[in-house]
Amino acid sequence: MIQEKRIALKNAGHIDPGSIDEYIARGGFQAMEKAFAREPKDLIAEMENSGLRGRGGGGFPTGMKVKFTDQAAWPSDYMKYVVCNADEGEPGTYKDRVIMEQDPFIMIEGMIIAAWAIQAEQAYIYIRGEYVESVRRIEHALKQCYDKGYLGKHLLNTEFSLDMELRLGAGSYLCGEELTLLESLEGNRGYPRIKPPFPANEGVFRKPTLINNVETFAHMPWIVMEGAQAYKAMGTEKSPGTKIFTISGDVNKPGYYEVEMGTTLRQLIELAGGMKGGDGFYAAILGGAAGTFVNESVLDTPMGFDTLKEKNAILGSGAVMVMNTSRSLYEMMASILEFFAHESCGKCVPCRVGTKMLVDMWDEVKVPKNGNRSHMLDKMAGEADYMQKTSLCPLGGSPIIPIESARQYFRHAF
Ligand SMILES: Cc1cc2nc3c(=O)[nH]c(=O)nc-3n(C[C@H](O)[C@H](O)[C@H](O)COP(=O)(O)O)c2cc1C
Ligand code: SF4
Repeated sequence: MIQEKRIALKNAGHIDPGSIDEYIARGGFQAMEKAFAREPKDLIAEMENSGLRGRGGGGFPTGMKVKFTDQAAWPSDYMKYVVCNADEGEPGTYKDRVIMEQDPFIMIEGMIIAAWAIQAEQAYIYIRGEYVESVRRIEHALKQCYDKGYLGKHLLNTEFSLDMELRLGAGSYLCGEELTLLESLEGNRGYPRIKPPFPANEGVFRKPTLINNVETFAHMPWIVMEGAQAYKAMGTEKSPGTKIFTISGDVNKPGYYEVEMGTTLRQLIELAGGMKGGDGFYAAILGGAAGTFVNESVLDTPMGFDTLKEKNAILGSGAVMVMNTSRSLYEMMASILEFFAHESCGKCVPCRVGTKMLVDMWDEVKVPKNGNRSHMLDKMAGEADYMQKTSLCPLGGSPIIPIESARQYFRHAF
């Protein structure tokens, strides 16, 4: 059986998350010191060479994003910002919560390193308000970092200063989308902005902003300490490193598991104690609601951003929901479509109307009026495709993802 390999969770369970001293005793803040001894440009090159890709779902190369933010075409005296996306709204995903509740310092240290790399002197952590325990832990951790001099003025006796503040969301799924998050962070209603411009050029307060996911930041101290080559040695060629998968559903030991990228679904299910009860594997949803249904033909595919894409599946945030043969695809898809209809902000017609239409159309797949379910599924795919092409933000383009995968992998079921 494969073993866990922990980078983001290396201290989880080993330290009191309320104690900065215990974090320091396990090597905490050594990466910050090492980073501060290097030129910011060197650090950016290290991140690029590591091949680290964003763990928030999109898999964008992190080093490239850091470089773009560093090179943003603003006069050099303008502020740059670092923002941590801790909104974690994707159904089935709870990895960021685990990091924040069990080792909040690793993420903060990653953010300090990123801030040094682009010389940003202000950082924000945006957490969904429902994550009460995470908020409490981060607040406490920030206070200790200020007390110890890891945040504030003249860090490690340099000219560099960094402030880090917490901002709370109100639980809107859309506020996890980076530009909507930045609107909300500024105190505005959680409506998306048109992209481009990207945050690297115009982010919070319309200034260059590096926005990354909690897990992405949590990888940075390790990369600084061990080097890009050691990081690249793990995982797959195009998705190096480790990934926290949150597995739920019909397995014996649902939970969070940090393993090398390239681990297969079969291996992950085995690590999670195997299928529960006497029923065998039927389906899994990879990546959350904006994720893909897959069948047993994907069980042995190495899970990485590109390897899953080759199968028209996605890794996304690392959420894995496993269904045994007693489960109904209808119910699962219905709850996904209702979720999108509920979370649509209503700003543009294709998504506001389209997400509700899809819920109604799915009812017809379940109880077909003309006896042809497959035909109805094709019509839904057409509608979702239209939504993807005409909606203002990526939420309107999300329903096509589960629908297309259901058509590809489970057409026979309709
Ligand atoms: C509707 C929607 C919701 C999202 N929710 C989250 C989220 O909760 N957390 C997150 O890190 N990224 C989320 N994202 C992705 C972010 O827009 C962005 O890609 C991410 O913060 C970039 O960080 P990364 O490069 O480290 O992955 C969401 C995207 C969309 C379209
Ligand atoms: S696509 Fe949906 S969520 Fe995005 S702006 Fe339009 S209505 Fe709002």
